Amino acid sequence: MKQESRNSDATIHDADYAAIFEGCKAVAESRLFTAGRRSEALDGDWNYAVDQYDTCLRAGWYKEEYSDAQGRPLPVDFSFDDWPVMHLPCCWNMAEPELKLYEGGMVFTRRFRFKSKTAEAGKERVFLRIGAANYVCRVFLNKEYVGMHRGGSTPFCFEVTDLLAEDNRILITCDNTRRDTQVPMRNTDWFNYGGIYRSIELFRLPAVFIRDFGISLRRGSLEHGRGMLDVSVELSDKTDAAAQLLIPRLGISQEIPVHGGKAEISMEAPEGLQLWTPEDPQLYGVTLRCGEDSVTDDVGFRTIEVSGTDILLNGKPVFLRGVSCHEDSERRGKALTTEDRTGIITIAKELGCNFMRLAHYPHSEEMSRLADRMGILLWEEVPVYWAIAFEDPDTLEDASNQLREMICRDRNRASVIIWSVGNENADTDARYRFMCTLADTARNSDPTRPVSAACLVNFPREVIDDRLADALDIIGVNEYCGWYIPDFSILPRILKNSRLTKPVIISEFGAGAKSGKHGNVQERWTEEYQAEVYRRQTETLGGIPYIKGMTPWILFDFRCPRRTSVLQNYYNLKGLVSADRRHRKMAFSVLQAFYRKLAGSPDPEETLHEKTDGSDACPADGAHENGLASGAH
Ligand code: GCU
Repeated sequence: MKQESRNSDATIHDADYAAIFEGCKAVAESRLFTAGRRSEALDGDWNYAVDQYDTCLRAGWYKEEYSDAQGRPLPVDFSFDDWPVMHLPCCWNMAEPELKLYEGGMVFTRRFRFKSKTAEAGKERVFLRIGAANYVCRVFLNKEYVGMHRGGSTPFCFEVTDLLAEDNRILITCDNTRRDTQVPMRNTDWFNYGGIYRSIELFRLPAVFIRDFGISLRRGSLEHGRGMLDVSVELSDKTDAAAQLLIPRLGISQEIPVHGGKAEISMEAPEGLQLWTPEDPQLYGVTLRCGEDSVTDDVGFRTIEVSGTDILLNGKPVFLRGVSCHEDSERRGKALTTEDRTGIITIAKELGCNFMRLAHYPHSEEMSRLADRMGILLWEEVPVYWAIAFEDPDTLEDASNQLREMICRDRNRASVIIWSVGNENADTDARYRFMCTLADTARNSDPTRPVSAACLVNFPREVIDDRLADALDIIGVNEYCGWYIPDFSILPRILKNSRLTKPVIISEFGAGAKSGKHGNVQERWTEEYQAEVYRRQTETLGGIPYIKGMTPWILFDFRCPRRTSVLQNYYNLKGLVSADRRHRKMAFSVLQAFYRKLAGSPDPEETLHEKTDGSDACPADGAHENGLASGAH
């Protein structure tokens, strides 16, 4: 798409300058299945400039016009190769002190060399994939507009085959401005990090390639024996082909006829299939070949379904001992490392969790891969959070696309058991229509997993009666009795008044505590107060038959612009562990003991009592081994 050549005068009066950059939108349907593929990363040093007024788009910097049509030099306002350098992927707020609070447009650019591997033109196709960029991202390659993406947490792809040369310049604009029509909207309870914060990669593919590949154990199929494997294949082109499915550990080598670019087959699960569970996270190497293309994924096979008020994992009732978690680190914002993510899951498992709520947006795909490997179940969610422009069709398409992109990305992950379509949205007609549509989208995109959302309690009527529950398989409920609702006695009344015939997960409860602040149990912000809220919450919730899980808010303190008191200092302090991961608050031990009792494993306190006849074991020692101080001082 060519932008009319425009001198600086035209650009300063042009209010709808971005309209020509709305085309070529990357959406879930333009996805690329990447498991097992080699890629060429464009991560590393990029030149960048803060572009608060979108001058790059207005003036068409990407065209690199240094002279006019008559060859006369023009004054240019950019200096790509001489701009400062930022190491991508990252959140720019964490990259430079002066960008700590920056919210707006940014321009990134770099050069790179590319050599096509096949002499014949048209034999190789090349795709650019960006793991995540918050929020509006536009890509230019060698002075040409490639495309754009909306959404701050999901991967997107563009084909760049015909734009590549041996020497290339790529330029990406990224704008994390919060807007009324975006998802989430302007007001959230977390920090709005900006940047291209997950990897930027090139993938070389054959002319016809595997665009998508799904494999799962059919819901309910374990009731009749070994279960049924459902396999779906989508090629880049609507062509007929013969694909091969290989699962060596199961002795599977199965031909899959593809017609018009698509295939769906089912087969009985073979003898010896070991089901995936958090306690025994069995993964199988699964390869799909088709023509010159091949992908390999590590897949766990399990079923997840709802029966009455039960949640069934592999046909057996499970209680989801969970905790909520943001994608946030003191040093890196959202751009966590593998070590960060492994540490998060490790601490959650030490808490006694078999479940985590990845709030309030899709976390990195590495999180669900690690969860598959380490054995923990996941709730994944799109940021349809609080107030959203529920009447705006473009906003609905934005939310729906983010949901489809999340599902396409993680559908082969055994750890992911619930898709959540939102959090704490006021119960209006527009919201009801919007979120019922999202629930249908989730089911149509993936019939193998239940759909949920974190709903609000009707406190004036002291009942859980959000009508969105009709559209959900599992009802998420956020309640802060003992914190925002000081009168704790309301909680048992709410639970008693609520007539629910579906499983409920208490998706949030909690209280704030400043790490290391101690006092009496009535004093807010002390660890004792938080621990007492957890004691009373778990004691009350533990006895309710239709409650089949909980994900208390939240594992770690996290950065939050709304929390400006000196004590909170722009952090939400409801974490069970401090933001630096070094201090476990007293409530950590309260929840840990509750989960251990639920899991039927001995409570360390009890084992401690058994051992206090002279042995020197102490739970604090265990905590120190992990470099984490215990709550008690
Ligand atoms: C809400 C919301 C969270 C928020 C929490 C809090 O329930 O879902 O995103 O951080 O309450 O107030 O701490």
